[in-house]
Amino acid sequence: MSVLVAADFDVADWAAWWPALTAALPGEHLVRSVAEVGDDAIDIAIVANPPAGALQGLDSLRLIQSLWAGVDKLLADPTVPPGVPLARMVDPAMNDAMAETALWAVLGLQRSFFDYAASQRAAQWKPLPQHRADDFTVAVLGLGQMGRTAAQRLVQHGCRVHGWSTRPCVVDGVQTHVGDAALPELLATAQIVVNLLPLTPATRGLFDAAAFAQMPRGASLVNLARGAHVVEADLLAALDSGHLHRAVLDVFATEPLPVAHAFWSHPRVTVLPHVAAQTDPRSAAVVVAANVEALRRGLPISHRVDRARGY
Ligand code: NAP
Ligand code: GLV
Repeated sequence: MSVLVAADFDVADWAAWWPALTAALPGEHLVRSVAEVGDDAIDIAIVANPPAGALQGLDSLRLIQSLWAGVDKLLADPTVPPGVPLARMVDPAMNDAMAETALWAVLGLQRSFFDYAASQRAAQWKPLPQHRADDFTVAVLGLGQMGRTAAQRLVQHGCRVHGWSTRPCVVDGVQTHVGDAALPELLATAQIVVNLLPLTPATRGLFDAAAFAQMPRGASLVNLARGAHVVEADLLAALDSGHLHRAVLDVFATEPLPVAHAFWSHPRVTVLPHVAAQTDPRSAAVVVAANVEALRRGLPISHRVDRARGY
């Protein structure tokens, strides 16, 4: 049987991924196109934003392994076979990268570094008051692989950290909150909200005018998860009214962010091109290989997506 790698990679991506995957899976026959072997010969698919329909008709498929942590796009494709186990990428190296981005964003907000970047563009010499980490309450929404690692890094940095999830959990140094009823009070206490939720029907559009109104005046949003979590027009209105101080955004409703989008030139928006935590072939290929080996040996697959929950 063969392993299909179905991805929207460019030449440079393939140059990094192909050697990493073939080295990590020495006993497997990897193909980049179904046509190389025929539908029935594919029993594993390794996917990264595959074109819609890429897995249709693969009746021998026994495992879909995502190279992405978030599987919202895959689950939105009705041709992805519903009965086949789907595993998402969970890689400690990726969690660390996300924690670094969250720390960078919080530090930039705490010490006004983003404001100084704007002052530089305007040739303004404008010292601002210096704040300590423990002047800030940070709410981390989502306490999974990414959120938990980021929350712990922020605790080490000295912030007061709160976290939010659907099921009770314990994270050292973090005051945790559970369920929808806890959200308004949590938002009301946070000077910085860091979004690390998966995109599901329950979380789509969570950051709307009502949520921004619950945040205190002068608070900031850091969105490192998915663009569709945010109602972008409501965010712009909350920034323009002065209610929110700043937004640090890595993800957008439309990616790449359109050239004419107001976020590009907004003085209190910082834009990253969806790079908060990129999958690193060097470590991720090993994670993939462990699941492929588990399947071959009849052992349980790690990091299976609960399709009913959507993550
Ligand atoms: P994860 O391990 O599945 O964790 C998800 C967390 O969100 C869990 O704590 C879960 O709570 C919580 N949650 C889900 N729905 C909720 C709801 N309705 N209310 C409250 N809490 C809810 O996911 P992860 O690996 O940390 O990744 C999170 C997301 O980050 C991914 O889905 C992806 O979209 C995004 N991401 C972005 C980048 C980037 O570069 N920008 C990179 C990687 C990932 P329970 O455990 O209690 O259910
Ligand atoms: C990136 O956004 C991922 O989900 O891995």
